[in-house]
Amino acid sequence: MKRIGIITRDCGGVNAAIRSIVRTASSQGLEVLGIVRGYEGLIHGNIVPMDRRSVSGIINLGGTVLKSARSEAFFTEAGQAKAVETIRANAIGGLIVIGGNGSLTGAHVLADRHGVPVVGVPATIDNDINGVGLSIGADTAVNVALDALDKIRDTATSLERIFVVEVMGRSCGYIAMQVALSGGCEEVLLPEKEFSMTSVCEEIAAGNAQGKVSWIIIVAEGTARAEDIAAAISMNTGLETRIAVLGHIQRGGRPTAVDRILAARLGHQAVEALIEGQSDACVNIRDGRPELVPLAAAILPKNMDMTEDYHLLKVLS
Ligand code: F6P
Repeated sequence: MKRIGIITRDCGGVNAAIRSIVRTASSQGLEVLGIVRGYEGLIHGNIVPMDRRSVSGIINLGGTVLKSARSEAFFTEAGQAKAVETIRANAIGGLIVIGGNGSLTGAHVLADRHGVPVVGVPATIDNDINGVGLSIGADTAVNVALDALDKIRDTATSLERIFVVEVMGRSCGYIAMQVALSGGCEEVLLPEKEFSMTSVCEEIAAGNAQGKVSWIIIVAEGTARAEDIAAAISMNTGLETRIAVLGHIQRGGRPTAVDRILAARLGHQAVEALIEGQSDACVNIRDGRPELVPLAAAILPKNMDMTEDYHLLKVLS
């Protein structure tokens, strides 16, 4: 293998991972090609050569310098055939795919169905890659959301209001749970845990009867809509309630130190895995040690047990 390719999705720390991959590969005498705009770029042969200098000054940048795109075409036979043709035509001996569930599913298809050597690097704010402890981007997203929440708290406290704050996460409550615990919130509604709106409202009414005047309730995307929760609270308690849907601000922004270091380690590990001849797997760090998770397992739904964290939140709120 003389040349490797990199495909990316966007979130905090992806540029730090690109930097790590390019510099590790260079130090091993490998050439690196960046695929621009994800699988779409692979289909259309949109490729740029990368070297040590081309990744200078990107460690602190959000998003991905290689750009990204959703590709419907890649999930067709014809699209995959074109992608494989690009790989062969450019003599790409191994591919590193940085991204979340969709990107890693594509990586698995390339490795399993088309025999392309592929190693995945888990990078998604959702932290929903099965078998992976922490994916790149999740820590940045939590910190961005926490920063927003701290600002919302200023108004919630000053005006004695209830706020329902919706955070991202696709169908995983990781961001919601982390933000709720670190933000000192009273309640969190998660896809992993059933909730009763009646109980939520009764708890608020009981607290209000004892003089409590402001609440912050986090709702994970995929659990319920913030506006429906807020409407139910207002109707059942008579208390003034506002909503904030944080949305894509959580996917952008300056990556945290945790994400940069994780990206440095996982990027380095991915190049080494390809050199060792590994494929159809994604890199992970478990108990401080590098390991590989088969992509077939990584793309399955992740079951996270949040019972203890939820219990802690309720004790502390
Ligand atoms: O997977 C990352 C994520 O930001 C999810 O949290 C969210 O559900 C989804 O992507 C949003 O996708 P899009 O940017 O295509 O709207």
